[in-house]
Amino acid sequence: MSHAEDHEGTRRDFLYYATAGAGAVTAGAAVWPLVNQMNPSADVQALSSIIVDISGVEVGTQISVMFLGKPVFIRRRSEEEITEARAVAMADLPDTSSRNANNEAADAEDANRSMDEAGEWLVMMGVCTHLGCVPLGDGAGEFNGWFCPCHGSHYDTSGRIRKGPAPENLPVPVAEFLDATTIKLG
Ligand code: FES
Repeated sequence: MSHAEDHEGTRRDFLYYATAGAGAVTAGAAVWPLVNQMNPSADVQALSSIIVDISGVEVGTQISVMFLGKPVFIRRRSEEEITEARAVAMADLPDTSSRNANNEAADAEDANRSMDEAGEWLVMMGVCTHLGCVPLGDGAGEFNGWFCPCHGSHYDTSGRIRKGPAPENLPVPVAEFLDATTIKLG
């Protein structure tokens, strides 16, 4: 096997892992409801940053990866999702803070939560801000974003809480692009 093939194989393996992880997270809504109460083990905490290859993520889909013992959603939003998120008035948001570790003082305008200026990439902790369930994604809920079935919290296409008991927007972790297809978390 050439070096190039070997690299490609590694990349594919990673994407498979990420996709498998998405399935596991979805199932986790039932069997793993209280992420907030779980303490990451010492070896997990030691891994304070991870590198994620996003080259295989299609528009309108997302992957889930585990970071510090919790799921992180990385979504490549469609034009429709971005337009919907950017059309929302601040007065319609229960939580007007960006909840973005990279931009903490900013308000919850969609542009203050997305990774890139165009708003294509949204990275958020996949942990409901009510009691810690893992919300369902891919256009779920009344606002076409994420829905937490535990007690009925609806998040919009920017991951902002819109309806239900959750008090805050889904938090955006420390994250940056290393290049066009690679994101570093932490
Ligand atoms: S944990 Fe999500 S609504 Fe209660």
